[in-house]
Amino acid sequence: MEERKGFKSTFGFLMAAVGSAVGLGNIWGFPNKMGANGGFAFLLIYLVLAVLCGYIVMVGELAIGRKTGKGAIATYQIMSRKFKWLGWMATASPFLILSFYCVLGGYCIKYMVLNVGNLFNAAFGTNGLSGAEVFGNFMGNPTEGVIFAVIFVLLTILIVMGGVSGGIEKFCSVGMPALAVMLVIIIIRSCTLPGAVEGLKFMFVPNFEPLKENFLGVLATAGGQMFFSLSLGMGVMITYGSYLDKKKSITQNALVIVIFDTLVALMAGLAVLPAAFALDPDGSKGGPKLLYITLQNVFDSMGTIGAVFGIIFYFLVTLAAITSSISLLEVIVTHFVDKAAEKGKTGDKRKVYSVLAGLAASVLMVLVAVDCLGSTGIHPAVLLGIENPKTWAADWLDFFDMLSEGIMMPLGAMLMCIMIGWEIGPEVVRDEVERSGFKMKIYTFFKICVRFITPVLMVLVLYGQIKEFFL
Ligand code: PFF
Repeated sequence: MEERKGFKSTFGFLMAAVGSAVGLGNIWGFPNKMGANGGFAFLLIYLVLAVLCGYIVMVGELAIGRKTGKGAIATYQIMSRKFKWLGWMATASPFLILSFYCVLGGYCIKYMVLNVGNLFNAAFGTNGLSGAEVFGNFMGNPTEGVIFAVIFVLLTILIVMGGVSGGIEKFCSVGMPALAVMLVIIIIRSCTLPGAVEGLKFMFVPNFEPLKENFLGVLATAGGQMFFSLSLGMGVMITYGSYLDKKKSITQNALVIVIFDTLVALMAGLAVLPAAFALDPDGSKGGPKLLYITLQNVFDSMGTIGAVFGIIFYFLVTLAAITSSISLLEVIVTHFVDKAAEKGKTGDKRKVYSVLAGLAASVLMVLVAVDCLGSTGIHPAVLLGIENPKTWAADWLDFFDMLSEGIMMPLGAMLMCIMIGWEIGPEVVRDEVERSGFKMKIYTFFKICVRFITPVLMVLVLYGQIKEFFL
């Protein structure tokens, strides 16, 4: 059997794992949800969940992945008798997420091009139209949406074809530090605009009202956001863990990933919301429109230099989205590459599988792209005959998001905790962690969480999500 090539360095692994975690969920999802759910109160709940659920699930996933040295499907088959099937769900979720992630990533490329047009006064710029008009025209043109989504998915496939160390590690090791630098530039600009303080207040002034009104709703939103943001409950961290060197510390790496992801989410809030409040008082402060309408208005109102900031910003978001989409595709590709190696197939099968998996994910992606956020009338509610649909039925993006982020991710993570806590035993994780020669100092904490606290919190999160969606 050919040798399975993993990450070359801890830095490379971290950049890839942080790259998977940091994405549209941080830059767009976090500031919106934090703003809409009580700002500081939401942040507190988010942090508690990140420690009691996110960190625990991250350690568990990295450990079982590294123990088996296989992708998600094989890992669950090897580790468990009761949850053998869980790997399939953990591999189906990336398919669903890729479908809308690539479309949104495509929108970011479109907006980068738009700002290049503005810089050179070219016809492909905004041509004096408002952010809402530009976005409206874009949503009325499904072909353009499909073209940009295809560009995005092709970039994703190309990087995954390069392999774990040659493609993913290399790309993320350059991309992630670049992203951090660009984010700091945008934060400085955003927070020094007159009126920016309103955005900071929106984010950070404690407001516990939403907690009193709808505690479960806030908990569910924070939980869903945290799982999505940390790329948990769907095979990514199992897959990346399977490529992690046996000498590296799992607990320390997991901690760094959780801390960095949360920091970038906060930094993204600082980059996005103060500028939106300062320069676009009438603009939307939430939903898809924030990223594509409000912020474009913000860049337009800065004159020529705005185009430069626009290019930097949308490049940054595209980069963040690509380092996440490659991790999603890698879950699927790893499974097939491992299977081929097991069957003794020789030669490099990775390239073929990357293309095939990318093409398969593109089928749903085209559906989401043509749907144009529900504006072309082919959304699920129409097909299912639902009158007055809830958000999840009003467009395909929200439908696939509801299935994956809303249900499959928390469910997958909860069942994984039950498997570790009650079936195979938390000592399996401890033994894997300690193989690196590090003592698992947090073992008691891990054991209590994985058995009791994390699953109970996950049930609440899941119940809250289902209630929000269907009741
Ligand atoms: N964590 C990514 C984000 O915050 O945008 C999205 C994501 C990537 C979710 C990988 C799930 C995943 F497996």
